[in-house]
Amino acid sequence: MAENEQTADGGIKAFVIGSPITHSRSPMIHGHWLKTLGIAGSYEAITVDSGELADFVDALKSGKNGFTGGNVTIPHKEVVFELADHVDETARLIGAANTLWLEDGRLMATNTDAYGFAANLDNCSPGWDACEKAVVLGAGGASRAILYALIERGITDIRLINRTVSRAEALAARFGPTIRPGGMQDLSAALDSAGLFINTTSLGMDGAAAPELDFSTMKPGALVTDIVYVPLKTPFLTKAEAQGMKIADGLGMLLHQAVPGFAIWFGTRPEVTDELRQMIINDLELHA
Ligand code: ATR
Repeated sequence: MAENEQTADGGIKAFVIGSPITHSRSPMIHGHWLKTLGIAGSYEAITVDSGELADFVDALKSGKNGFTGGNVTIPHKEVVFELADHVDETARLIGAANTLWLEDGRLMATNTDAYGFAANLDNCSPGWDACEKAVVLGAGGASRAILYALIERGITDIRLINRTVSRAEALAARFGPTIRPGGMQDLSAALDSAGLFINTTSLGMDGAAAPELDFSTMKPGALVTDIVYVPLKTPFLTKAEAQGMKIADGLGMLLHQAVPGFAIWFGTRPEVTDELRQMIINDLELHA
């Protein structure tokens, strides 16, 4: 539990820092929970450029800016890791932190992306982790959190496919023999009889092109999911659905990854409801 610092008006203050930060949906998510749970507090988006991060963290640690904690996003997820006093096992294995809080005067850091990924699938596709073989497309920062979640759930055969094979090989070396790296040319063979596919790349985001994948060789009832949520139904999901696969969109992961942070800062565990999901969908449509 964080030291819940109170502002003059009695509210607990949390933040999301990054650059750019204007498109972050986190203030809307946390603001909704604060309102519906009747908690006096605030959650604000603050633009912090790379050159300003160390000063922001210093002010946070000294209590000068009055924050209890907050979220960290691009481009600070890896760097903030070095500035925290304690980084938990999850964030260390993933190599990035997205959630900070003060505890006994120390700045703590964790990563809730792996939790958000798994909690979303637990919610919308229970039993998803019973599959033996999973295919992960992409070997960037987002991929590391997904790999962590898959390994933690005991999936024993993970095919990691990336355009730049050396990045997939580096992650296989980091996470161990469960991960079998490959290049794009290995993708269709990897999909054969797999129970789960996850796109962790930006392919298909904001109307960008995505390769036409054939999901039909996956196991019957296989699940195809995407971490991209703009558009909500990405080209990968559209194709998979047309081929009779189960699908899960990326918005659920965004909503669920916010839960642990809110619980730490504000002391109450919030729910991811249909109302919250619809609110964010409406906002995404408004700004499409
Ligand atoms: P993030 O932290 O969001 O995961 P990243 O570290 O830049 O971002 O990783 C982006 C991922 O998308 C990488 O796996 C990248 O492949 P490379 O490692 O080969 O760059 C993948 N990616 C981005 N654009 C792609 C494209 N047009 N085709 C295939 N993969 C692409």
